Amino acid sequence: MDLAMQRQLKTGISDVFPELTEDVIGRMRNAASPRLRAVMEILIRHLHAFVRESRLTQEEWGYAVDFLTRTGQICSPQRQEFILLSDILGVSMLVDAVNHRSGVGITDSTVLGPFYTGRQRELGPGEAILLRQEDGEPVTMTGKVSTEGGAPIQNALVEVWQTAPNQLYDVQDHDQPEGHLRASFRTDARGRYCFRSILPVSYPIPNDGPAGQLLEMMGRHPFRPAHVHFMISAPGHRKLITHLFLEGDEYLQSDAVFAVKSSLIVTPRMKDGALTIEYDFGLSRESELPPQPG
Ligand code: BEZ
Ligand code: FE
Repeated sequence: MDLAMQRQLKTGISDVFPELTEDVIGRMRNAASPRLRAVMEILIRHLHAFVRESRLTQEEWGYAVDFLTRTGQICSPQRQEFILLSDILGVSMLVDAVNHRSGVGITDSTVLGPFYTGRQRELGPGEAILLRQEDGEPVTMTGKVSTEGGAPIQNALVEVWQTAPNQLYDVQDHDQPEGHLRASFRTDARGRYCFRSILPVSYPIPNDGPAGQLLEMMGRHPFRPAHVHFMISAPGHRKLITHLFLEGDEYLQSDAVFAVKSSLIVTPRMKDGALTIEYDFGLSRESELPPQPG
């Protein structure tokens, strides 16, 4: 097929039933809010364009409906398949990018993931987040939490979580004590945090459901590079949700959820006889609003 024919075909397709799109959008005149109306209009235009451009067959649409049905059916308080779907399609990282300013003095954010289980026990500086012995390599994680201008933030809440060496979070593994490898800390007067853990390992995201099937159909692996999750909160500042990744991990370039940013890759080093990861976090001011539509 030559280029002219391709163009003609595309034009023809993009013309299919255009008045339907306008009709669907036009019926939102009494929408509950201008924001809802604006977002739904964009969604409908893109969805209709997708159907036209892909020339979606009845069978494919049926498959998609069944896929989304199965995605909903596998969800439970312990399993959030829609977040996984959003993550593997890059949507979570895009929402994050649209809503977070980056810049000098501000630590890059990344996905939350489905394994944050709420506020955990608060430990003192230097304490270990393990509730049982593990085979992993012991590591101390330490650094400072600052404003974007570099001023230390005292009493910031630093929440951390990671998998065990068996590649599972406590919530995925009944053999682990609840709260194992998770904890909260407060920064001291110099903005410093410090805790002990073990080096994280790379692991596959849950891939025994629809998101895993989709990954396989797309010819992708389910692995995430080794990381420790951080959520840092302080009054007057935007909550920072991020990870620290380990230099040298084989999945840094192909994270199943696209969450790696080079600024978040760390190298553990020996310090005072202990393997140590040192990383300083910068929080942006709360007043920085995400971009508004229109
Ligand atoms: C995680 O790092 O915990 C995670 C993130 C996205 C999907 C699955 C797991
Ligand atoms: Fe994780």
